[in-house]
Amino acid sequence: MERSLILLKPDCVQRRLMGRIVSRFEDKAINIIAMKMLQVTPELTKQHYAEHVEKPFYPALESFITGAPVVAMVLEGLEVIRVVREMLGATNGLNAAAGTIRGEMSSSRQMNLVHASDGPEAAAREISLYFRDEEICSYTPELQRWLKADDE
Ligand code: CMP
Repeated sequence: MERSLILLKPDCVQRRLMGRIVSRFEDKAINIIAMKMLQVTPELTKQHYAEHVEKPFYPALESFITGAPVVAMVLEGLEVIRVVREMLGATNGLNAAAGTIRGEMSSSRQMNLVHASDGPEAAAREISLYFRDEEICSYTPELQRWLKADDE
């Protein structure tokens, strides 16, 4: 099992797309094991996007992410990091394939609705930035035997 940190970004919250995007993860039988709304601070943005702090677009990114509340989630599932990034599509909504979340709902590079961790190390680091251990509720869904075979 893998875990990934997901942010429903301010554009997603403001556009009232939270429910539709959460539904897509639930429909895919991915487990949501932590979830909260919060106002991200500039300090947290710098930690989260540490690799982008020196990039020219960083000031705009910080202003966007801190401009309205976000919803942070931890998703758990088999190969969930890759699976969720494929569900999101390319970073720029204009380039995202039809059928992906961004392909269907975003036409922007910055306002691309959802952040998802891009690898296991990033996931561990990002989850610890947004959640304390006791806020994560790993559980086995009652439906588990209808979601995947025992040997998967
Ligand atoms: P995300 O997957 O959260 O990771 C970094 C974010 O920075 C990205 O989504 C976009 O929202 C934003 N971003 C990436 N590249 C650019 C860019 N060239 N100009 C503006 N914003 C960008």
